[in-house]
Amino acid sequence: EKGGFDHFMLKEIFEQPRSILDCMRGRIYPELGQVQLGGIKAFADKLKNIDRIIIVACGTSWHAGLVGEYLIEEYARIPVEVEYASEFRYRNPIITEKDVVIAISQSGETADTMAAIEMAKEKGATIFGICNVAGASIPRLTHAGVYTHAGPEIGVASTKAFTAQVTVLTLMAFYMAQQRGTISDVKMRELLTELETVPDKVQSALASNELVKYIAGEIKDASNCLFLGRGSGFPVALEGALKLKEISYIHAEGYPAAEMKHGPIALIDEQMPVVFIATNNSSYEKVISNIQEVKARKGIVIAIVTEGDKKVKNMVDYSIEIPDTDEAFLPLLATIPLQLLSYHIAVMRGCNVDQPRNLAKSVTVE
Ligand code: M6R
Repeated sequence: EKGGFDHFMLKEIFEQPRSILDCMRGRIYPELGQVQLGGIKAFADKLKNIDRIIIVACGTSWHAGLVGEYLIEEYARIPVEVEYASEFRYRNPIITEKDVVIAISQSGETADTMAAIEMAKEKGATIFGICNVAGASIPRLTHAGVYTHAGPEIGVASTKAFTAQVTVLTLMAFYMAQQRGTISDVKMRELLTELETVPDKVQSALASNELVKYIAGEIKDASNCLFLGRGSGFPVALEGALKLKEISYIHAEGYPAAEMKHGPIALIDEQMPVVFIATNNSSYEKVISNIQEVKARKGIVIAIVTEGDKKVKNMVDYSIEIPDTDEAFLPLLATIPLQLLSYHIAVMRGCNVDQPRNLAKSVTVE
């Protein structure tokens, strides 16, 4: 049942080229420059007139929400807030009929996310769901939604569900942009043509497995680890840190790279591995200066770089290449080596990868 893999988590990591493809299937039309999302089609007109989107979720799904914020604001130009469901539900948030709430949940059973939906619904908001488990409680509570179609996820650490959530949010951002006329046909065709190549590029990113395993062996005894990124690399860093802490029990933190100098830089010494998302995109040069700050303090730098990169490679201790892509799709590729890194470290430390201590696959209590 693990398909020849030692753990469900590794199997699910390797399933991602297929799960991302399944998630896009029948939804993108690159030649036409169109996205179709049958699940929210009935609200296509409503989307032209909304004031704001509030994304509610927990854990990894909340990280996917942060990626969604970048994409929706960039392409559809709708203001987005991303909220922890547990915090949102106990505030007295301002919600109106012109708000759309997007609830993200792999299991569709998370108690706090369900309560947040119920509250927003009472206040008149339109609720969309992004869920993986068909027929779960959350899809039944929402007005409309888009399934991630990643297939059953058994490992407690979410991997393929995360990349599928990010894929759906990408499609939603493009769909909303299409309804609101905030994106040109030419640009849409260009983006969708590139998106179609992402599953193959995820496959190429998986080819770093052996190298990542080697790097894992070099840093497995660390007691702390930092993950840094900018732009949509920031939620990727948060997700990398969560993966590492939940399955290897190494204390890890994700930070926006520029925030480092406001505190976390004090932690850096020759024992501290620092993982950077340092791909060649709009924040490349800025990330390079952050890498210099860490190297000047003798931190051990592991960088996720774009294929063919030389500049970062020459500055860091270890680098892992991922294929070049449009910045919009960067999180889908940059996440892959981080999943593998936490997996190999956890295995080397003798941890129960698929069922980490104290954790359950779905958190049905608040
Ligand atoms: O089923 P959900 O997506 O609502 O679950 C939310 C979190 O409990 C979940 O993402 C958790 O953080 C995972 N263990 C992360 O790997």
